[in-house]
Amino acid sequence: MRELINSGISGVGMAVPERIMTNADIEQLVETSNEWIVTRTGIKERRVSAPDETVASLGAKAAKLALENAGVTADKLDLIICATTTGDFLWPATACLIQKDIGAVSAAAFDISAACSGFVYALSVADGFIRTGAMKNILVIGADTLTKQLNWQDRNTCVLFGDGAGAVLLAPTQPGYGILSFTLGTDGGKFDVIGIRGGGTRNPITHEGLDLKENTIVMRGSEVFKFAVKIMGDASLNALEKAQLTIKDIDLYIPHQANLRIIKAAADRMGLDENRIFLNVEKYGNTSAASIPIAMTEAAQSGRIKTGDVIVTVGFGAGLTWGANVIRWDCRNGGMG
Ligand code: ACO
Repeated sequence: MRELINSGISGVGMAVPERIMTNADIEQLVETSNEWIVTRTGIKERRVSAPDETVASLGAKAAKLALENAGVTADKLDLIICATTTGDFLWPATACLIQKDIGAVSAAAFDISAACSGFVYALSVADGFIRTGAMKNILVIGADTLTKQLNWQDRNTCVLFGDGAGAVLLAPTQPGYGILSFTLGTDGGKFDVIGIRGGGTRNPITHEGLDLKENTIVMRGSEVFKFAVKIMGDASLNALEKAQLTIKDIDLYIPHQANLRIIKAAADRMGLDENRIFLNVEKYGNTSAASIPIAMTEAAQSGRIKTGDVIVTVGFGAGLTWGANVIRWDCRNGGMG
């Protein structure tokens, strides 16, 4: 039997649309206020993609930066995984478009659909390929453009989301470093808590469906809220236990950036102090699968992470799905830390 190989992050990159939409801009669209949005969510502004800015274009931009950061060329990639629920087409997978754009001629490519947990799912899958020695260089992208699927007349949802992409290069690393553990979970019984009802094969889009805005996001927000606060703690503790670590060992907690109140309530429940949590939800809102790799890129590039640090990522989202990774940072190739 082959020895298992640890996988580590050797480069990070991110891309967000230029257009900033503030809470004041949203006040012009629906009955809401900056004060309501900030106190209930912590969000002050979000990025909104132009018609020609898509998951593929933002994902490719982030991917190129992650490769540059790692000092690896695209032809060395074995696999591209794109976590997204807002891909350019129903099919083929957006990862295929990114593969062409960046010139990753030797790479296989596929998407993972796990909503806001997508990046954690994709990283865990990629880790498996490297761990067994089957592959060496895997690009893991989280990218979403949820603003293209919002009902801009629904104040329950339109204030929450933003667009963007983040990418990491995953490659073999030294024992004891890189991805130490993961936990993934799903409660499919709650598939109807958040999602898009129309446009799939069960409920194909019709003129009537478009009038009813069935092609946009519907959500029971307070159910997501309660689920998220509980599952963030449970998933983090589970992944930490698998890595034989505890909350005290966390140097930086990088949660899915959906809502500041959710993050603070989950942290309180775990006994995790705020200065060990990375937060950027006020700038970007909820960018779904992109939120963790964007936060990771900003954390690494601003010096919040150094070699040897224990990082915990945790995601939750539609499905309902959740997941967490424990990572001992070892980004030697990227020249960080
Ligand atoms: N502005 C003003 N009032 C609003 C707004 C708004 N933008 N949105 C809702 N309200 C109103 C509601 O209509 C309600 O009024 P009512 O009592 O007259 O009916 C009132 O505010 C309170 O509503 P609540 O739902 O109790 O507000 P809550 O404090 O729960 O905050 C929120 C709502 C922000 C949506 C919260 O529940 C939340 O963040 N939930 C999690 C959402 C989330 O993270 N979703 C993403 C999941 S990840 C994925 O897979 C994409």
